[in-house]
Amino acid sequence: MKLQSDVDVVALNAVARGPNLTPLHNKQRTRKVEEVVDGLRLDADAVLRVRGVFEQEMEAGRLDQPSSLQMENTFIPELLDGTENGSFMALDLGGTNFRVMNLVLKDGRLVDENIAFYHVDDHLRIGCGYRLFDFLAECIADFVHKQGLGSGRLPLGFTFSFPMTQSSLDDGKLVTWTKSFNCPNVVGMNAVQLLRDALAKRGDVNVDVMAVLNDTAGTLVKGSYLDRDCAIGLILGTGSNACFLEHAHLAKNNSHLTHGEKDVIVDIEWGAFGDNGSLDFIRTEFDDSVDEVSVIPGSFTFEKYIGGKYLGELVRRALVRLVGDGLLFSGTSSAELNTTWAFTTSMVSHIEQDNLDGLHRNTREILDSFNLNFDADDVLIVQWVCQLASNRAALLVSTCLAVLLDRMERPTATIAVDGSVYQKHPRFKALLEKYTSMLAPKRKRKFLLAEDGSGKGAGLVAAIAEKLRLRNNNSSL
Ligand code: GLC
Repeated sequence: MKLQSDVDVVALNAVARGPNLTPLHNKQRTRKVEEVVDGLRLDADAVLRVRGVFEQEMEAGRLDQPSSLQMENTFIPELLDGTENGSFMALDLGGTNFRVMNLVLKDGRLVDENIAFYHVDDHLRIGCGYRLFDFLAECIADFVHKQGLGSGRLPLGFTFSFPMTQSSLDDGKLVTWTKSFNCPNVVGMNAVQLLRDALAKRGDVNVDVMAVLNDTAGTLVKGSYLDRDCAIGLILGTGSNACFLEHAHLAKNNSHLTHGEKDVIVDIEWGAFGDNGSLDFIRTEFDDSVDEVSVIPGSFTFEKYIGGKYLGELVRRALVRLVGDGLLFSGTSSAELNTTWAFTTSMVSHIEQDNLDGLHRNTREILDSFNLNFDADDVLIVQWVCQLASNRAALLVSTCLAVLLDRMERPTATIAVDGSVYQKHPRFKALLEKYTSMLAPKRKRKFLLAEDGSGKGAGLVAAIAEKLRLRNNNSSL
């Protein structure tokens, strides 16, 4: 049976729920374990329903009707055309590291780069927003001085990977914090102005903040630098989100498009997908409890199903429940396993490597580090839970990607991806390939790692903004 854009429902049903648990010594135990985690397994019906809801939410978001998807116009007016020259700074705030960098472009090609990493302490990530922006300005000044960038004007692009409402390239008002940041007193403010003010207060560097963008937009722009067919920017890291080349006439706030532009980069903000309850039909008790301990409960539903910040904790919650039911580790947990956030997504990746290799070594090492007593069946259960959580995450991402591929109707589309989950999870890429080809069978697609797209993309967008500034100056002469 072929339905919805030629999806083969029978074939999808055969794989979407992920593999079955290898039978344990005790049949009843196998069945009970399967029952407890069954909610993490989506069948084809559920997948197609997610797909339908995503399409509806995108449409409502673009029309400014109630929706959990923002569909924000990024105001990036064009991509690189090979005429960009000069030195451009970039900031990247939002994931695990905060980066400052300088890129040198010659005829649109990157010929030199310098990057510095700065650690953002917990007391800066959670607390007063002005203090956070003062710290960003301090890092910029430190970088400019250490790199000897001089006192001439330095154009800068700012990747600020949080939901914003944009009214121009240099106006991005923070909608809400996400991931591990929460500085409530600057919500609603323009991130560019906050940074400009913090820099002006110091007065020791001549940095011109030209553009603010989301990491997905940076990744798309970096991707288009590598591959002209790039049409989607995807982040699978601490958080998750995507942007895509939307038909210009369908983008909201498109009145600034007066030069016959065909496409506009739209930031979906799919991390918030389902915040209005529209995805409750796939929500499990484990998702509820991850949400409860997150920095901002009740928000970013979809991101909490897939982001690297949450995947490990989701697995831990399922394991703790299985222990509580006497189905794992003979019903005895450990202080380590009972610790919130102690089971990381990188552990899930290591265990998934075992699953791929048919081994147990990584899994055993991790369980040892949690001071647990376990046997061969326990190992199988832990490996299976990691596989189910990963499978669900990849399936959900693929479902939304398939919608974008169908919507763009391109003969071929490259999906530029950045982020720790994509880079470090040993199975994610293959799962994305498999599920997107099943869910958008008519669309040719290619996944491309756009390493550091979120950071370098900001430098490239600063170069585009600078080119436009010079063009406008010349035309007004
Ligand atoms: C969160 C942010 C979003 C960003 C994503 C990936 O979902 O809201 O703007 O793109 O994380 O970093």
